[in-house]
Amino acid sequence: MDSPMTSMAAMRSFRRDPSVTERSIPEGTTQRILGIARPYRRELISFLALVVLSALIGVLTPLLAGSIINRIAQLSGTAGDIVRIALFIAGLALVDAGSSLAQRWYSSRIGEGVIYDLRSRVFEHVLRMPVAFFTRTQTGALVSRLNNDVIGAQQAFTSTLSGVVSNAIGLVLTAGVMFSLSWQITGLSIVLVPLFVVPAKRIGKRLQEITRESYGLNASMNATMTERFNVAGALLVKLFGRPSAEAEAFRSRAGRVRDIGVLSAMYGRTFFTALTLVAALATALVYGLGGTLAFNGQLSAGDVVALALLLSRLYGPLTALSNVRVDVMSALVSFDRVFEVLDLAPMITEAPDAVDVPAGDRSVEFEHVSFSYPAAADVSLASLEDVAIPEHGGATPVLRDVSFRAEPGQLVALVGHSGAGKSTIANLVPRLYDATSGTVRVGGLDVRQATSDSLRASIGVVSQDAHLFHDTIAANLRYARPEATDDELWAALTGARIAALVASLPDGLDTVVGDRGYRMSGGEKQRLAIARVLLKGPGVVILDEATAHLDSESEVAVQHALDTALAGRTSLVIAHRLSTIRNADQILVVEGGQIVETGTHAELMALGGYYADLYRTQFAQGAGERTVEVG
Ligand SMILES: Nc1ncnc2c1ncn2[C@@H]1O[C@H](COP(=O)(O)OP(=O)(O)O)[C@@H](O)[C@H]1O
Ligand SMILES: [Mg+2]
Repeated sequence: MDSPMTSMAAMRSFRRDPSVTERSIPEGTTQRILGIARPYRRELISFLALVVLSALIGVLTPLLAGSIINRIAQLSGTAGDIVRIALFIAGLALVDAGSSLAQRWYSSRIGEGVIYDLRSRVFEHVLRMPVAFFTRTQTGALVSRLNNDVIGAQQAFTSTLSGVVSNAIGLVLTAGVMFSLSWQITGLSIVLVPLFVVPAKRIGKRLQEITRESYGLNASMNATMTERFNVAGALLVKLFGRPSAEAEAFRSRAGRVRDIGVLSAMYGRTFFTALTLVAALATALVYGLGGTLAFNGQLSAGDVVALALLLSRLYGPLTALSNVRVDVMSALVSFDRVFEVLDLAPMITEAPDAVDVPAGDRSVEFEHVSFSYPAAADVSLASLEDVAIPEHGGATPVLRDVSFRAEPGQLVALVGHSGAGKSTIANLVPRLYDATSGTVRVGGLDVRQATSDSLRASIGVVSQDAHLFHDTIAANLRYARPEATDDELWAALTGARIAALVASLPDGLDTVVGDRGYRMSGGEKQRLAIARVLLKGPGVVILDEATAHLDSESEVAVQHALDTALAGRTSLVIAHRLSTIRNADQILVVEGGQIVETGTHAELMALGGYYADLYRTQFAQGAGERTVEVG
């Protein structure tokens, strides 16, 4: 009968969603796929040659078996001839086995190679996407979507291409040989095919539905588990006391998954059984009809046997090819989705004639800068639509005509209510976003004209929640400067007032921190982040409420660390503490995306405007509690 591999592939193909054939694939996709396959053309040619070889062996063997039967029936030739033919059949079987292994080797080499190429390119490309892309895309969804599509693209080579080519060649050869032996029998056998294919399509559709339902259920069970099986979630369940209701809801979903599993197993078996049954019925037909023809002298005994054997190579390929459009389109769609990601133009790119930020000048300047966050449509993706979070933004201006200049070495404080646009101003300096109009300059150079490496090197940022990778302390620090020596790491840690803590850890610099590592307190994390900035040694430092989430004790420690970090550098400090602001060379009061007042603390207090108001409502309470000065 059919090889189980062919039947499996046929069933997988019937489970595919036929609606893909309605998708339109942009022109040129096929060319691009060919472009990706180009490095593998030698493998492809070898693969196709082997497929043809196997197909030839597939029809040759039944014919040889037929000729043996004829010799037996007519008692012609010698027994030695028969043994020779049998040995030849055995030889062909060996060659076929070798060819099958080699085919798999080539198809997987190509498929895995394609995965490797696409994966590396997508990863690199996504890393270069603007921050806006990440604010609008759910990471998990993006990752799984890309994984699935990249794997779909691989299957295009490993299963679709090999399946379609080998089935088509096998089918043409088999049907041709069968027709030449007996057109009546072959015609009748082919008439039987719809008997199987029509119900198979129906089963495939039902399988798709329940498979999709079970994916959904599994995903929601996983989500429930991840939410409940962490300290915060488990606490909530305990405190609000609904464990039995939770368990009941979980049980009902798990129960449905169980039922679907049984259904799906039965549908799958029905598919195979039907395929086997149709082939068995057809075999009976071949023997009945062929035997009758042989009795009338229209067919030899060997031809009847050859036809019966060939029949087993007819149905699998016919079934698989009846769904070929869906297979090919699924493969194209996978490629198309990957290309879509690769085609997303990174909005922030290095100018071709970019130059380095001048090392000597550490000034920061905004000249008539206006800014709106990019609209979702500009950064999201058609195929990621269901995971893009619609956000306001777009046309609403967040910054309007902002101009100021921080001289080298100056401390400039940004104050204003939450949502006023302070962080947005900070984001424009390292070019996380580009100004909609106006110019941002670092070291006198328009940031759009600066090389990204030099811009990165000249600016250090510490935000509210510093992020550490799940890696050692040393690796996290060296992210800022890979070539730093251990001594330099310790110097930075000392400057950030965290050397003593790191030294007290059993693994020292090799302690793993981050998501699943050693739990650092908020203040410790901030000080590590400051050490990271110190190691980088940028001329410009931006602090965006770097101490906002800390208790007063950690804050004192972090503030000490910041004193070191800011010394001798130009700093842009978004502050919520009076002490920082009092020492600022310049205070910019931001309100509704505009700078409404500029001056020193004393000047602005004397003015009695926004700042004086802010001072009374926000800063005055904390005034006495802090003694550390920044400067
Ligand atoms: N990624 C974003 N996309 C769209 N709008 C944003 C984004 N980040 C901030 N905003 C909006 O920009 C305005 C200024 O925000 P922000 O600069 O963070 O204020 P601040 O730091 O002064 O509290 C707010 O109205 C905020 O909702
Ligand atoms: Mg902010």
